Amino acid sequence: MRADGREPIREASRLLAGRRNAVALTGAGISVESGIPSFRGSQGMWAKYDPMEYATLHSFMQSPRKVWNMLSEMVSVCGFAVPNAAHKGLATLEAMGVVRAVITQNVDGLHQAAGSRRVIEYHGNLDELVCVNCWKRFPTRDRWTPGDVPRCDCGEILKPNVVLFGEPIPWLAQEQAEEEARTCGVLVVIGTSAQVSPACDIPRIAKESGAAVVEINPEETSLSGNVADLHLWGSASEVIGRIIERLKEADDVTPGH
Ligand code: APR
Repeated sequence: MRADGREPIREASRLLAGRRNAVALTGAGISVESGIPSFRGSQGMWAKYDPMEYATLHSFMQSPRKVWNMLSEMVSVCGFAVPNAAHKGLATLEAMGVVRAVITQNVDGLHQAAGSRRVIEYHGNLDELVCVNCWKRFPTRDRWTPGDVPRCDCGEILKPNVVLFGEPIPWLAQEQAEEEARTCGVLVVIGTSAQVSPACDIPRIAKESGAAVVEINPEETSLSGNVADLHLWGSASEVIGRIIERLKEADDVTPGH
């Protein structure tokens, strides 16, 4: 129960129903229940691979085979993953007219696979490779084989079309994400530790533009108790499921409820 006596799920539903122009910002936590490890924490990718050695543009150009060993693991795991109830729940909230867009830091394509139509891929997508020399692009499935360093027709190395540390965010994705943050009524922040910039600035932009910030995470993050107005403790699939139930039950999705 919140300090003001309101039940958090009920409060979140009231906010979502009342404002009806919510945007979701998602991180690795939403895909954990699809079998994709998150990055931080004891079970995270970065516990196994030092990101400064395996996930910077510099390390990729220096040792592409080494970095591709790590990337191959990600491509395989994401290749087998399917959307979970949290991804599907966001697609349902979009269909209900409650959530209008998803900004994701994830590169797994699971939001689109779950049926979400407006997805802003802030860190790119693993399904595509791009040449570090001529920028030509290829579907990953056409050029990637496990253990190999994929090559372009020009002979140069292919890199997944994801944002490595030291690389800029694709400008269109950044523009669109900031525009959504500036104009949304509610920002629902799901499964991110909010430690990586500039993605971690999106909640602050939304808050400063007058939006309510609702956080869904089984753990505390850098947003908890300051930028976040409401923290819903629990897994993404469980909490989003309860919000949908509450919205349908209470028929809260009528404007100005
Ligand atoms: N449901 C909701 N949240 C969860 C769940 C779950 N089932 N499981 C874990 N979490 C939370 C964790 O508590 C943590 O706060 O998800 C968060 C995952 O945080 P990170 O591993 O730091 O991932 P993320 O915030 O997405 O990382 C941001 O950093 O490494 C780079 O480019 C990479 O996009 C990534 C960025």
